[in-house]
Amino acid sequence: MARGTIEVYPNLEFATINPNLFGHFAEHLGECIYGGIWVGPDSPIPNTDGIRNDIIGLLRAMKAPVIRWPGGCFADDYHWTDGIGPREGRPRRINIHWGEVIETNHFGTHEFLRLCELVGAEPYICGNVGSGSPRELRDWVEYVNFPGDSTLALQRGANGHGAPFNVRCWGVGNENWGCGGHFGPEDYAKEYKRFASFLRGFGQPLDLIACGPAGNDTGWTRRFLTELGGYRHLHGFAAHYYCGTAGASTQYTESQWYQLLEQAIRMERLVTQQRAILDGFDPDRRIALIVDEWGSWHPAEAGRNPAFLWQQNTIRDGLVAALTLDIFCRQADKVQMGNIAQTFNVLQAMALTEGDQMVVTPTGHVFAMYAPHQRGRAVTLRVETDAVGPEPHRLPRLSGSASVNGRKLFVTLVNADAGEPAEAKIKLVGGAQAQGGTLTLLAGESIRAYNTFEQPAAVAPVTAPLRAGWDRFTVTLPPASVAALAIELA
Ligand code: AHR
Repeated sequence: MARGTIEVYPNLEFATINPNLFGHFAEHLGECIYGGIWVGPDSPIPNTDGIRNDIIGLLRAMKAPVIRWPGGCFADDYHWTDGIGPREGRPRRINIHWGEVIETNHFGTHEFLRLCELVGAEPYICGNVGSGSPRELRDWVEYVNFPGDSTLALQRGANGHGAPFNVRCWGVGNENWGCGGHFGPEDYAKEYKRFASFLRGFGQPLDLIACGPAGNDTGWTRRFLTELGGYRHLHGFAAHYYCGTAGASTQYTESQWYQLLEQAIRMERLVTQQRAILDGFDPDRRIALIVDEWGSWHPAEAGRNPAFLWQQNTIRDGLVAALTLDIFCRQADKVQMGNIAQTFNVLQAMALTEGDQMVVTPTGHVFAMYAPHQRGRAVTLRVETDAVGPEPHRLPRLSGSASVNGRKLFVTLVNADAGEPAEAKIKLVGGAQAQGGTLTLLAGESIRAYNTFEQPAAVAPVTAPLRAGWDRFTVTLPPASVAALAIELA
């Protein structure tokens, strides 16, 4: 059996893990909102104010910290006034980016903020720069946040919410280098300043988030920041990184297994290189590095509308999620928010729904397993391991991250080997001693295993007591698996 050593340093804390690293993204795209989240109050599907009860329960269970909405590309063609007031009177628009289907606007600002309230997640609203105006975005912030009796605040009250919503996070455009207007970095920086100049929190501190690069495009970042100059009404800078596919969602070879995982771990280089550039302009790190869209993106599935981006989700996607979340935790001093694309029925989803059924994907299980990292103090973890996979897609066999929360040590690990189990010898360095805990494992029967409505637990976490005594112990990870160790420190 393959072996590796994991040294954990519970005393070497280097950052608090921002819960928003485990965030989500929900766009008006395919069946993410309509069907996945929103069924309407009159639906026979159990719901609270029109929002499915099963997805509320799932997002609560995984402690979803933040949800970004309404897009995506959709955001830069969205006019928020379409989505307020009595639903039957809302305009029917065309969703130009995603299949030119009718957008009923039944899910608008109040419905989204109700979802966040029910789930206990922070809302992150992405504004329209591409086809909107500074005035339109400024008015949206006023409508949502103004505590006084302006016309817009009174309109909010007439629509059922007298108290301000106090939304902190606002995106100033989405992918403005692409679907958000095809700007160059200098032109977008000028637009950013024009829009941000008119944005006020009205008593609520605002976090304004600028559109960052496509992948690790360092040129975009340098040129945007250069043009931004000394302007500092900016609190976040958001990259998008999709690791793409290799093969298809459920059909891939062993070599394509490694190819996708290796593409996923390029996130680490993105985070360190983008932060290094930001540091040159912002040495005190007042501007947070964010990755507000990430995940795998497989070819359209046969029989599905290709514009709806529906895809199955196997244990391979589960490992993409685990590797990425471990990178975020290891780089918790450099990255402050991550939003996987997308919550339900689109791309790397937490769950798939059909009618009243819902099935949790391997990715959804990974998010629940990793939740204890939220708000922990990230601590140093050193791995001695060999590499697996064919050139040029080699990656470490074992990798992971660790955090402490009081007397609890939480370690997550991935065994990337498609065929071999791995014995991981865990060493607690610096005098810490374990006195038991639990070990949760996620694996499938094969590297192509996934959950369906008929077989919802083909890939499901299994928890057992952890035989962890003193400062060293061994755990065995099945091939192609994710492990979460919740360790009680003496
Ligand atoms: O997540 C799907 C799409 O991917 C988003 O709308 C866009 O921002 C990105 O290109």
